[in-house]
Amino acid sequence: MTKGKSTKLFIALAIFFTFLIPSIHAASAAETDPYLKKIQKNGELRVGLSADYPPYEFHQTIKGKDKIVGFDISIADKIAKDLKVKPVITEMNFESLLGALKTGKIDMIISGMSPTPEREKEVDFSDTYMRVDQKVIVRKVDQNKFKSTSDFQGVKVGAQKQTTQEELAQNELSGSTVMSLQKVPDIILNLTSNKIDAAVLEGPVADAYVSQNKALAYAKNVKFANGQKDTAIALPKGSTALQDKVNASIKDIKDSGALKKYQATANKQMFLEESFFQKYKDYFLKGTLYTILLAIVGVLFGSILGSLLALMKLSETRWLRWPASWYIEFVRGTPLLVQISIVFFGTQILGLNLSAFLSGCIALSLNSAAYVAEIIRAGISAVNKGQMEAARSLGMTRGTSMRYIILPQAVKNILPALGNEFVSVIKESSIVSVIGVGELMFVTGVVQGASFKPFIPLVITSLIYFVLTFGLSRLLGVAERRMKTSD
Ligand code: ARG
Repeated sequence: MTKGKSTKLFIALAIFFTFLIPSIHAASAAETDPYLKKIQKNGELRVGLSADYPPYEFHQTIKGKDKIVGFDISIADKIAKDLKVKPVITEMNFESLLGALKTGKIDMIISGMSPTPEREKEVDFSDTYMRVDQKVIVRKVDQNKFKSTSDFQGVKVGAQKQTTQEELAQNELSGSTVMSLQKVPDIILNLTSNKIDAAVLEGPVADAYVSQNKALAYAKNVKFANGQKDTAIALPKGSTALQDKVNASIKDIKDSGALKKYQATANKQMFLEESFFQKYKDYFLKGTLYTILLAIVGVLFGSILGSLLALMKLSETRWLRWPASWYIEFVRGTPLLVQISIVFFGTQILGLNLSAFLSGCIALSLNSAAYVAEIIRAGISAVNKGQMEAARSLGMTRGTSMRYIILPQAVKNILPALGNEFVSVIKESSIVSVIGVGELMFVTGVVQGASFKPFIPLVITSLIYFVLTFGLSRLLGVAERRMKTSD
């Protein structure tokens, strides 16, 4: 080989390695990364977050319309734009986010989340886009009581559930009792109403609340040893191609100074002025409608399934009786909260991508069915045994006597109890707020966060629930009296 030839060969090889190998690598990453493909195919980027976190992500009414805003949202928009897809924001409790990402309910979490070793076992993280300090806030009157992390002996400290703040409170505020709460507004409410005496919050969030609420102040001299935390985007494990894209967007945001602008906008949006009622009446209205809808669907399908179960339970065949009894026992013996989570996350594992609302409806119906079944069974059993014997001795079959003699009498026992069940379903539907269904309890949390008023929204909501349930029981009372007079 001549010298010239070998140089050419060398150059050719160099070109091959610099260009071809990385592109092979990139191609194989895209192939083994179904996550990016799925996003591109659906044309949607489903971003999960907990919008109780101003200025990261929070609700704000802009021109009479509820929107989730904040710099995390701007980041989500930017990433979606770079991927040429539409951003879809999915809201839920912070503690539910990792589960939702792992089961594929969402494509990524942009919710002020910090990478931690435990989380890194479950999901991958993008490059960090921010590094912030953790702060302790207290009631202003107590400001001088807390001078260092050792002044928290026996003090009740609030933090959001399953967050790094919770961990920090446990590890560094020695002797304190940590109260873990689901939503940041709950922490503030507990603090201002003396239920807890301090709270650990992410720096920017603490700033937002202290500037909004004159009764709150920083415990200035309390400094954590591990108080600096990174913020990054959580991605499904092994989503390397998606991760590359996200990192490129983050780099862009940081280098161009866009992040600073996002933050400035978010800070401005926190303090838009409008009257409380004007701003939030639509939230309550919508929440109430959802609550009513959930209750109606729950009771309706609950009654259908419940009647079936009751008939099964009353049947003479053991193979019908047993499953029905076990179902009823199981449902009545487990918390609704657990059932809702099972339906919401379980359907995803089975490959059904149900919306939170649909999951909520199903869970409520399945739950209500067990109670309705018992109501119907009890109603039927309460009819005097002699009635059946008399009917049978007149030559009627079991079926006809059931239909013409027993059921008409049983209905009088059943209907009032069914009305009460309706009332309970209205109240219990509040639990589906945990999976992010926008019913009354959920919007209450939203308004609490957006308005920085932790208490008033609760009062309003309790009044709405009361009007609903009281109105309904009155209506049922009238119906019951009518039925009595028709006897
Ligand atoms: N940075 C903390 C963590 O990762 C708390 C984040 C809470 N985010 C929220 N949107 N509420 O644990």
